[in-house]
Amino acid sequence: MSEIVARRCRRAGGTEDGLLALITLRAALDAARAGSYGVGAFNVTDLAQAEAVLDAAASTDSPVIVQTIAGASVHGRDELFWQALVGLIGNYPDVPVVLHLDHGASYDDCVRAIGAGFTSVMIDGSMRDHVTPATFEENVEVTRRVVEYAHARGVSVEGELGTIGGSEDGGASSKAIILADPDEAERFVAQTGVDALAVAIGTSHGAYKFTSPPDGTVLRMDLIEEIASRIPDTHLVMHGSSSLPADLRETINAHGGRLPESWGVPETEKARSTKLGIRKINQGMDSHMAHSAAVRTYLDADGIGVDPALYGKPGREAMQRIVADRMQVFGQAGQSYRHR
Ligand code: 13P
Repeated sequence: MSEIVARRCRRAGGTEDGLLALITLRAALDAARAGSYGVGAFNVTDLAQAEAVLDAAASTDSPVIVQTIAGASVHGRDELFWQALVGLIGNYPDVPVVLHLDHGASYDDCVRAIGAGFTSVMIDGSMRDHVTPATFEENVEVTRRVVEYAHARGVSVEGELGTIGGSEDGGASSKAIILADPDEAERFVAQTGVDALAVAIGTSHGAYKFTSPPDGTVLRMDLIEEIASRIPDTHLVMHGSSSLPADLRETINAHGGRLPESWGVPETEKARSTKLGIRKINQGMDSHMAHSAAVRTYLDADGIGVDPALYGKPGREAMQRIVADRMQVFGQAGQSYRHR
């Protein structure tokens, strides 16, 4: 329990103060390494999705990472959403939760998230802007500053090396993949002190990944083992880990969607990655596909349904189911006792 960040918080809807037990990313991933499992980091873009992730964790007795990207939610203001997230988590005192900023685009974004109560931030210094990769030195500089600020406040930091393809928030923009270099990974960690490192091993974000089932030439699982052996005290993160289930794509397309055929990271490879050294597995698109498929199915069946409370509910429930399934695959199910 040494790295638990205990904060007093007001339970949502209640009057009494409760003890909010958020844990740091470092604590979650150290425990995962001891138990040789991975922890899913599930992207949420509204409060109901966060509830789905937390309910999935509660029902499977899992530690969990709830993550969100600045500016990428249905809410009008980050601070409003983030404050609500902290309040929501206060209702799950038995679930070890890391609240993580995904793809912090700047030092200031990380400072804002830490101020809001996040226990972990990612500073993505890999790109200078949306098209130009940053130099190694530029990446080190901004990451080092964030580590200094975050560690002084008991917050963990994830950095990124190489460039993961696609678009982080599932949007249409896309960037090329530059694989992580093991020598650079070693130097990057020595110069920044990050707790976790996102390594580009051929995956990409979003709903368009591989044009055929990925083999070892496109999905470089061998890089994981090599990098893990060079930086044994730093936890490796796999981004772009969604599997893009064909049945969900078919359901979405049967109800008005137009998703092209695409393959993601097979579940067997994600499970295998946790034995090679991956500790944090980022998943956004699978949850979003499950959510959208359920919402589209509901709306198609009920031609006069317009109430978000009615169509949002099956979306939340579908997301909870797929997240709970993934928790079994990643091995985090049944592991929350490690944080008590
Ligand atoms: P997917 O787009 O494959 O779900 O990955 C999400 C992610 O890596 C967020 O950082």
